[in-house]
Amino acid sequence: MRRAKIIGTGMAVPPAVVDNHLLSRCMNTSDEWIVQRTGIKERRVSPDTYRMLLRLAEAPDKVAFMKQVFDQGLDGVIDSTLTVSDLALEASQMALERAGVTARELDCIIESSTVPDFAYPHTGCVLQGKFGLTSTPAFNLQQGCAGFIYGLAMADQFIRTGLYGRILVVGAELLSSMFDYTDRGRDMAVLFADGAGAVVLQAVEGGESGLISHHLHSDGTVLDGLAGEIYGSSTYPAISKKKIDEDRGRPRMNGRQVFVHAVRRFREVVGECLEANRMDVADIDLFIFHQANIRIIEAVAEALKIPFEKTYNNVERYGNTAAASVPICLHEALMGGRIKEGDLVLMAAFGTGFAWGASLLRW
Ligand code: ACO
Repeated sequence: MRRAKIIGTGMAVPPAVVDNHLLSRCMNTSDEWIVQRTGIKERRVSPDTYRMLLRLAEAPDKVAFMKQVFDQGLDGVIDSTLTVSDLALEASQMALERAGVTARELDCIIESSTVPDFAYPHTGCVLQGKFGLTSTPAFNLQQGCAGFIYGLAMADQFIRTGLYGRILVVGAELLSSMFDYTDRGRDMAVLFADGAGAVVLQAVEGGESGLISHHLHSDGTVLDGLAGEIYGSSTYPAISKKKIDEDRGRPRMNGRQVFVHAVRRFREVVGECLEANRMDVADIDLFIFHQANIRIIEAVAEALKIPFEKTYNNVERYGNTAAASVPICLHEALMGGRIKEGDLVLMAAFGTGFAWGASLLRW
């Protein structure tokens, strides 16, 4: 039977580390508050966000400084020194190298980012261009934190049907560029961060190793749970000074609502995946949940009676990197020897939309 197997993984995070203490010099928060509610101790951010935070921490009037940054950029400059496609490229190059294949040998690229380089063309194409490829099909998924799981499911179908033989699936995020790091944005700014993870999938015949099943869902009736209007036809014109002045450009989140939905949907989709494969928790060697908040993962593990040591977590070091979080965990778990040949790994993610899903694979 033809199936898709992961033959290489990779990740990339920017070098700048922002701990909770630096954030508490910018806004009214504390290491204790953030660790207790989320489990996050530090996160990686782009060089631009890092420079901005160092300046904000020293600024006597933080609101005025942040407003100036939103109005004029940092020191009047609005071009980023690192974009999301740069991170995607770095993670992809590592995955390709580990797979022993070149970008030219890819049949397709599926990329997922919440905040793209540009509204259009999409980041899959930008990434493809950075590889110097001129005809490989490239997709972009906007499934938020669930993007990588949706990408894996799509890639698996392309491979099973025989359309493609080798596909790069990437989840990359540069979320720190969106937030107001004063009190006004503190509910979201402490959670999200930057990073990328990638896998190379290849068609294999026979054997047990490879992707087994995917379970995808979305619920578009709760759009306000987690949303960003940044640019879009929900306003006319799609982008205007008025939109920015009314603060409708920035992301918004109902933290409690997201928390409750996330726990419920994780429970359901893990149950669905296990049932579809006639397995139970004891059959799974490792659970990789999207790293939004350690309390969400603890609640799901408790409800499903998953021993916590069977979960792989790094939210403490990277915060919530949305579409990048599952592939970063997968890469780290592999490198750290947490996944061995023959292991069953169940990955699940939940995010904006809401959109959520689970994928099961045998390593
Ligand atoms: N520091 C200090 N106080 C803060 C901060 C902060 N960074 N952010 C918000 N607060 C304040 C709020 O203003 C509120 O104050 P008020 O009561 O005076 O209005 C208060 O803290 C809320 O405190 P709690 O009720 O204790 O907060 P809660 O336990 O709900 O935790 C949190 C908040 C962490 C946002 C939680 O709801 C959560 O994690 N929700 C899930 C959000 C999430 O994971 N989103 C990620 C995107 S979706 C996904 O990836 C799954």
